[in-house]
Amino acid sequence: MSYVVARELTKYFNLSDPWVVRKITGRKKQILTAVDGVSFSIKKGETYALVGESGSGKSTIAQMVSGLLRPSMGSVLIDGHDFHNNNIDGSSLRNMRQRIQMVFQSPYASLNPRWKVGDIILEPIRSFQLIADRQEQQKRVAELLDQVGLSPRDINKYPHEFSGGQRQRISIARALASQPEIIICDEPTSALDVSVQAQVLNLLKELQHEFLLTYLFISHDLAVISTMANTIGVLKNGQLVEEARGPVLLKNPKHDYTKMLLSSAPDIGSIKT
Ligand SMILES: Nc1ncnc2c1ncn2[C@@H]1O[C@H](COP(=O)(O)OP(=O)(O)O)[C@@H](O)[C@H]1O
Ligand SMILES: [Mg+2]
Repeated sequence: MSYVVARELTKYFNLSDPWVVRKITGRKKQILTAVDGVSFSIKKGETYALVGESGSGKSTIAQMVSGLLRPSMGSVLIDGHDFHNNNIDGSSLRNMRQRIQMVFQSPYASLNPRWKVGDIILEPIRSFQLIADRQEQQKRVAELLDQVGLSPRDINKYPHEFSGGQRQRISIARALASQPEIIICDEPTSALDVSVQAQVLNLLKELQHEFLLTYLFISHDLAVISTMANTIGVLKNGQLVEEARGPVLLKNPKHDYTKMLLSSAPDIGSIKT
């Protein structure tokens, strides 16, 4: 059975001027269809990779799947439960939020610069009330730092004391802290140098095997996508134009847009993980 199912996900953004302004200027309502009827499913422990150029709707999908943004139409099922259902009770919603975590492109933006690393990683443990005992909390934070290749001694440092790759490791440690089953990675290595990219991608793969994590992995970069994906979905203007198992899609693309993406990505296979 599929673990994550997106059904006909659609998101409209209302870009219209306020009603009064429209009345005066005679301008029409402007509705942007950012995501248009996108369906896919992810098996437990696998990686579904979404590729598409900037503005194609990737982050909007990520936010709907993670529960941060409500779809205009369609639904997200996690392990059979509908996330956006109005009838879902508070504790089930909390439970879902704990099971799905996100890693974003820019660790500068997603890590609070005034917090020490230990507190950043501890925050989900506290907020989901996973460990009450202080000493046990510190032990867990040290364990998480170790799991992402950082040192337990880093607990008292601030984000700016780390390199870009290390900062992304902190983000990953924080994502792991709530013991999630699903991690949504939205351009997790796009801000990193190529050599560092491979290390972070490697770490994500190792963690996936160790904890049987399910990934929704998003990137505009087909070279990155090709090292991570079990299945690849190609997104264009908010629509899924092609989907196939990774090697099949890379070898035998069907849609013209996929062919174009492939021909403009000569470095596929260059990232050794
Ligand atoms: N909150 C928002 N309000 C209005 N438009 C938005 C909002 N978020 C995204 N968009 C628009 O939706 C489209 C898809 O954006 P996004 O999902 O961020 O694409 P991607 O992540 O693939 O670059 C873009 O045209 C973007 O400008
Ligand atoms: Mg984006």
